[in-house]
Amino acid sequence: MKVMRGVLALAIAVAFMAGGLFVGTPDVGAAKLKAQVAIPKKYEGKHMPEGGWTDPKLIARGKEVYTGKVNKKVKCSKCHGKKGKPKAKGARDFRKAANMEKFSDTYWFYRIADGVPKTLMKGWLGKITEDDIWAVMAYENMFSHGGKPAVPDKSKWAAPKFK
Ligand code: HEC
Repeated sequence: MKVMRGVLALAIAVAFMAGGLFVGTPDVGAAKLKAQVAIPKKYEGKHMPEGGWTDPKLIARGKEVYTGKVNKKVKCSKCHGKKGKPKAKGARDFRKAANMEKFSDTYWFYRIADGVPKTLMKGWLGKITEDDIWAVMAYENMFSHGGKPAVPDKSKWAAPKFK
C-alpha cells in the first residue's frame, strides 16, 4: 500500500512537471501582444492589391512562400506553424482573428518586410519580393478565417501611424 502511494505521488509529480513544460502553445496572450509601432513613411499607401485577399493564384503563391518553396531560407511555417499555430516563442497565434485584424494591411506588410528588431522575426523583403509579401499575407489570412479566403474586417484595424 505504501509503495502504491509512493508510485502515485511520483506519477502526480511527473504529470505536474510535464504540465509546466507544455503550458499551451507559445502564443503570447492577446493582452501582451505588441502594440502598433510607427511605420516608416516609405510604406505609406501600400495596400493589398485589388482582390488579393481572395485571389486563388495569389494565395497559392503565398503558400509556396510560407512553406519555404520560394526561398528555403524564408520558411514562415517553421516558426509560425503550418496552419498558423505558433512554434517560435513570442509569435502570435495566426489562427485568432482578433490577433490579426487589429492592424492594417500596411502595418503587416511593414512588419514582414522589415521584421521585428531583436527577435527571430527578420526583415524578409529582399529575400522575397513585395508581391510575395502580399501573397503570403493573403495565404496567412486564411488561418484566422476557417482556412478559407476572406476579406479582413477593416473596420477593426487601428489607423496606421507613420514616422
Ligand atoms: C525564425 C523564426 C521566424 C520565421 C522564419 C518567420 N517569423 Fe514571423 N515572427 C517570429 C517571431 C518570434 C515573431 C514575434 C516577434 C515579436 O513581436 O516579438 C514573429 C512575428 C511575426 C508577425 C507579427 C509582427 C508583429 O508586429 O507582431 C508576422 C505578421 C509574421 N511574423 C509573419 C511572418 C512571415 C509572413 C514569415 C515568412 C515570410 C515569417 N513571419 C517568418 C518568428 C519567425
